[in-house]
Amino acid sequence: MNTYTGKKAVVLGGTHGMGLAVVERLREGGAEVLATGRSATDQHPDAVRADVTRPDEMDALGATVAERFGEFDLLHVNVGVASIQPFEEVTPEIYDRMFDVNARGAFFAVQRLAPMIRDGGSIVFTTSVTNGRGSATMSVYSGTKAAVRAFAKVLAAEFLPRRIRVNTVAPGFIDTPTMGFTDATAEERAAIMKLGDEVTPMRRHGTADEVARAVLFLGFDATFTTGIELPVDGGLGHVGD
Ligand SMILES: NC(=O)c1ccc[n+]([C@@H]2O[C@H](COP(=O)([O-])OP(=O)(O)OC[C@H]3O[C@@H](n4cnc5c(N)ncnc54)[C@H](OP(=O)(O)O)[C@@H]3O)[C@@H](O)[C@H]2O)c1
Repeated sequence: MNTYTGKKAVVLGGTHGMGLAVVERLREGGAEVLATGRSATDQHPDAVRADVTRPDEMDALGATVAERFGEFDLLHVNVGVASIQPFEEVTPEIYDRMFDVNARGAFFAVQRLAPMIRDGGSIVFTTSVTNGRGSATMSVYSGTKAAVRAFAKVLAAEFLPRRIRVNTVAPGFIDTPTMGFTDATAEERAAIMKLGDEVTPMRRHGTADEVARAVLFLGFDATFTTGIELPVDGGLGHVGD
């Protein structure tokens, strides 16, 4: 078990799924963590409600982080929502909602919080295996995650003078309460999981903890690595079978 004693982290989207797995690993390792979410904070009394699409809530979050931490070591930007539809069925509302949360929300969250990241700290975004392959019915979601990867690379360059490393983790099919699809029914999620197990070269889905370990590797251990996207996808984006 790694030790994160003395470390402080902010996890945006840390109330369930992979973000919660990161929060748990950090706390087990002795870190102080401030986790955020939008709706599930009632199940996590120590989490802070902050919707990345709401500037007022992000300003309040900034004030809370400043008061509790002053400076902190790791910002994990894990927020993301997905819905699937064929290209022809995408509406401007569907497009705006996914870009609002995944791309615009992630971008301005970092702009709000980055001044408080300690020099020499790091940022880890969550993107997706969709960045490595064209996944039918996922045009908008894929566009949002490609934008996040691009943001991460540019921020890696812009934060070099502060020695803040910026990387992304790109999960494949991972077993989380939503599978990333907030509005999907239990049956739809089971079907997504089954499909994932069939198409993934390793013939299984990943766990939230497997992604958390990759996030913490990039966040703390990969001290000579910046600007990369690390796949955690059972080979889906990279290996044929
Ligand atoms: N699961 C997969 O197979 C998979 C695969 C590839 C990529 N991903 C990506 O990995 C990340 C985590 O996925 P997951 O499956 O763990 O998802 P999840 O269980 O649905 O968790 C998403 C987190 O983001 C928060 N969130 C959602 N919208 C928000 C908003 N507007 N403002 C603030 N917080 C918000 C959620 O909190 P509340 O519910 O409390 O709002 C939750 O803590 C996402 O970026 C997703 O796109 C997932």
